[in-house]
Amino acid sequence: MPRTPDYFAGKTIIVTGAASGIGKETSLIFGREGANVFCADLDEEGAAEIAERVTENGGRGVHMKVDVTSREEAFEMTRRARERFGRVDFSLNSAGAALRRSDFLNIDDDLWERTFDLNVKGVFYCMQAAIPEMLENGGGVIVNIGSMAHKRGGPGHSVHYAAAKGAVVTMSMGVGREYADRGIRCMSISPGPIDTPFHDVSSEELKESMRAQIPMGRFGTPEEIGELVLFMCSDACAFMTADTVYVNGGGGWK
Ligand SMILES: NC(=O)c1ccc[n+]([C@@H]2O[C@H](COP(=O)([O-])OP(=O)(O)OC[C@H]3O[C@@H](n4cnc5c(N)ncnc54)[C@H](O)[C@@H]3O)[C@@H](O)[C@H]2O)c1
Repeated sequence: MPRTPDYFAGKTIIVTGAASGIGKETSLIFGREGANVFCADLDEEGAAEIAERVTENGGRGVHMKVDVTSREEAFEMTRRARERFGRVDFSLNSAGAALRRSDFLNIDDDLWERTFDLNVKGVFYCMQAAIPEMLENGGGVIVNIGSMAHKRGGPGHSVHYAAAKGAVVTMSMGVGREYADRGIRCMSISPGPIDTPFHDVSSEELKESMRAQIPMGRFGTPEEIGELVLFMCSDACAFMTADTVYVNGGGGWK
C-alpha cells in the first residue's frame, strides 16, 4: 500500500496484457485505488471488458487494441493514454507468453523470433514510448514482468522463453540505472508459476512438476502479483529501482 492515502487517485497507468491474468488483476486493483487505467491488449474485447470493470471499481478505464510487437502501436498507445488522461505516471508491461513449449534442439527460428518479438521487443518499444512522457512529468514508474525462468534457464521446455525473460530483467536493470537520477524507477518482477491462461500451453505433467518444486505447494494468483505492482509503483517503495523481485512461494531454485 502507498504511504500517502489516495496516492493513486487520478494518476494514470498503462497496462499491456490487460485482458487476462496478471495485467487484468493489476488493472482492477489500480481501479480500486481510483487510478486511470489504460487497458491495452491484442484481445480488444477482453481489454474493453476490463476497462469497464475498472470504471465500476472506482477508477477510470479506457481500452485499446494494441500489438506490443509493433513500435507504431506502442507509441500510439502512449500518445492516446496521455491525450485521454493528461499524463502517464506508471507502466506495467505484462503482455507476454511462452507461445509453445519445446526442448532446446527443436526450437526453430520462427519460435525464437516470435518469443523475442513479444517478450523483449514488446517491452523495449513500450518503455521507449513511456519514458519521454514520464520525463516530461518529472518521473514515473515502470514495472516489467520477467520470470523465475530467467534464473533457471527453462531446461527441457522453455530455453527460448527463459532467455527472453533474461533480456527483460537485464533491460529493466539498465533502464532503472540510466534514469535513476531523473525520477524514473524501472524494475521487474520474476514470478514463479501463476495460475492464469498463460499455462494453456503447459502440459499437466509440466504443471505438476512446477507445483512439486514450490514449498507452499501451489501456484500463485495474479492478484498476488497485482498487489506487488501497486506497492512497487507507490511512494512506499521509493528506494527500489533496477532490481527484480522474485515471487515464488519459496521455490524455484531446484
Ligand atoms: N503465469 C505464469 O506462470 C507466469 C510466470 C512468470 C511470468 N509470467 C509472465 O507474466 C506476464 C503475464 O502473463 P499472464 O500469466 O497474465 O498470461 P495471460 O496469458 O493470462 O495474459 C497475457 C495477455 O497478453 C496479451 N498479449 C499477448 N500477445 C500480445 C501482444 N502482441 N500485444 C498485446 N497483448 C498481447 C494476451 O492477449 C493476454 O491477454 C507475461 O509476460 C508472462 O510471460 C507469467
